[in-house]
Amino acid sequence: MEIYKGNIISADSYDQLNVIENGYVVVENGFIKEVLSSLPEEYKDEKITDYGDDLIIPAFSDLHIHGSQYAQRGLGMDKLLFDWLNEYTFPQESNFRDLNYAKAIYAKLIRELLRHGTFHVILFTTIHYEACDLLFKMLDKAGMYAYTGLVNMDMNSPDYYVDKTDESLAKTEKFIIEHSDNEKVKPILTPRFAPTCSKTLLSGLGELAKKYDLGLQTHLVESKAEAAWAKELYPEFGSDGEIYEKLGLLQGSGPKIFAHVIFPSEVEERILSEYNAISVHCPDATSSVIAGIMPAKKMKEKGLRIALGTDVGAGHFIGIYHQVARAAQISKMKDFYEGDDQTINLANAFYMGTAEGGSIFDRAGKIKKGYRFNALVIENMLDREYERPISDALERFCYHGDDRNIKERFIDGKKIDPDKVYEEIIEI
Ligand code: GUN
Ligand code: FE
Repeated sequence: MEIYKGNIISADSYDQLNVIENGYVVVENGFIKEVLSSLPEEYKDEKITDYGDDLIIPAFSDLHIHGSQYAQRGLGMDKLLFDWLNEYTFPQESNFRDLNYAKAIYAKLIRELLRHGTFHVILFTTIHYEACDLLFKMLDKAGMYAYTGLVNMDMNSPDYYVDKTDESLAKTEKFIIEHSDNEKVKPILTPRFAPTCSKTLLSGLGELAKKYDLGLQTHLVESKAEAAWAKELYPEFGSDGEIYEKLGLLQGSGPKIFAHVIFPSEVEERILSEYNAISVHCPDATSSVIAGIMPAKKMKEKGLRIALGTDVGAGHFIGIYHQVARAAQISKMKDFYEGDDQTINLANAFYMGTAEGGSIFDRAGKIKKGYRFNALVIENMLDREYERPISDALERFCYHGDDRNIKERFIDGKKIDPDKVYEEIIEI
């Protein structure tokens, strides 16, 4: 048993931060046994690690990141989606046919995710089996919680970076079969987006969803041009979302993860609700190549689930804590230009980046009894000279902090060191 003392902050509900000043987290076998404001007699003889004024918070979840695009982070940010895909992303991703390239980039990616406190991730990869298999093994060795899958694309893609339909389906099924028995890292269907996927490919993936009871990640109504193109290619369906529904990709019991969701129609809203799907808000990506802002507050009011993603490389920072701050920031922009009460606050966004994102992993995302102790110790970022409530330290970290302010990282109750993990995974 271990006991950690500090200022505990967790978002147990969308509207509220739970703050326990000078509280105690009792951890046993990797799980939180109790969260207490004072220590009862029974624990008096136990060893206590005292983090003083520092914060103990849940580790972050990134529900939309392109692992392969870590190599192009911060590049092409002045482009819009289609130019960015054609000029930067497709040529760069095609490099993952070289396993040495893949290994170097994926190892750095994992080290950075861990450094920045993201322990639960849903990743896009590329169309290359070996590289995707390698990423899977690296995530497993790093002890992370993850879903990942081979990217499917069989049309409207460059000749040097496209699969034949049956090849794409065969590789995907092989990947699923060979990676289906891992506790923490799991396969998920990953069609890039409707415009690069034929009907035969999507229908085939729909069959795999049923056969292997899988979840789905893809991009949904991410720009007006994308939504219009999807409709043009699939005129028999009413909207982008219906393509996935009608072709059977939502029939598995795994998580349904839709990135961006900038322009949800009533059809998308019905689908998101009916399938208990998560929309992933990626504030940086949305301010760069996507160029539109998710109507997050309106969607929450309709009871829809929203988590956060970095969408690296369409987004440029790897820390979800920055996305927490940016989600609040850009909601004010949306409100300013469109009106109609669109702002969300820091607590709302922190909930998205921890509790909601963590909810698709097993008992992750909260500092709460019964949850895994997947947690971060953040140095208290307040100035002694200027007394403020402890929750302000969290706000300052999200807006102003970085990985240097993360003093300790725990996965399943065990301390981890991102540099050591890097040394291990680069050996695979
Ligand atoms: N839509 C299709 N491919 C991509 C991609 O790689 N990134 C983002 N953000 N949107 C996409
Ligand atoms: Fe994306």
